[in-house]
Amino acid sequence: MAQPSLPDSLTRLLAALPKAELHVHIEGTLEPEMIFALAARNGVSLPYDSVEALRRAYAFTDLQSFLDIYYAGASVLLHEQDFYDMAMAYLERAVADHVVRAEIFFDPQTHTARGVAMQAVIGGLHRACQDARQRWGISAELILCFLRHLSEDDALATLEAALPWRDRFIGAGLDSSEVGHPPAKFARVFERARAEGLHVVAHAGEEGPPEYIWQALDILKAERIDHGVQAVHDPALMRRLAEERIPLTVCPLSNQKLRVFPDLRQHNLPALLEAGLCATINSDDPAYFGGYINDNFAQTFAATGMVAEQAYQLAANSFEASFAPESEKSRWLEQLKR
Ligand code: ADE
Ligand code: ZN
Repeated sequence: MAQPSLPDSLTRLLAALPKAELHVHIEGTLEPEMIFALAARNGVSLPYDSVEALRRAYAFTDLQSFLDIYYAGASVLLHEQDFYDMAMAYLERAVADHVVRAEIFFDPQTHTARGVAMQAVIGGLHRACQDARQRWGISAELILCFLRHLSEDDALATLEAALPWRDRFIGAGLDSSEVGHPPAKFARVFERARAEGLHVVAHAGEEGPPEYIWQALDILKAERIDHGVQAVHDPALMRRLAEERIPLTVCPLSNQKLRVFPDLRQHNLPALLEAGLCATINSDDPAYFGGYINDNFAQTFAATGMVAEQAYQLAANSFEASFAPESEKSRWLEQLKR
């Protein structure tokens, strides 16, 4: 199918707008070339002969088919320097897309289960955030995610193991296989995270039902919902999200690749904005889904016919939804004034 095209002026606007990225899994930024380079550096063997063979395996049918490959890719990460290199590569790419604020998810259980030290994971990622701020001026923070296909006890132990580095992450989140693992399963660990003063977010309503979004709000007290696109099936939930300005971090190319919306032209992002929700555009796992944040903007605008007004709205929403200090948020919002 021919790619719908955008007017040049809108293409330039989408690329140049300052924006916050609030939903990116750092393990999902590992490009195939870096997977192979780290495998060689660390003596890890991969079940693929080449970068091209690995890329060919990126033909997903749903969330689980992606997660199986994504966890295999992360197996090359062993040392602090690996986490640093991965995060610096993402941050440099984000700066090129005029991301001025990144709130980055990481999955410690994916690594600690393989014997990698928590210190290596958090140390490498945090050092990259600091260096990127120094080098490029980007504001970057970390959000620790629990894998929902594992037990709540495992999540609790993970949080305890990370708390010696409490000052190096700003929030806790919930990701991995959604259906069959409702937010309610993680009530205690989120209570513990909130008691530590962490911000809390949760993936909900990506493939799962609106009920999971209600649970994320009422039981976990999530401040933002990651994805949340299934909310449209519940008018009362839509009213609540709009009235309370609870942000949704929407990831259009992810939704297309994982067949939540197989055709981007059918994506409900315009409807979410029309209903007054604080929706944002993000890349989720850009190395796997065919594009970074500006590709998500460009392809979604081309497919749905959104215009400049929505571009400014989405950028403003990203700053409103961010956990950055109010002073930084108002400075970025000021930059959007025309
Ligand atoms: N982990 C990485 N990407 C994810 C997604 N889209 N949904 C749930 N867990 C994830
Ligand atoms: Zn995600």
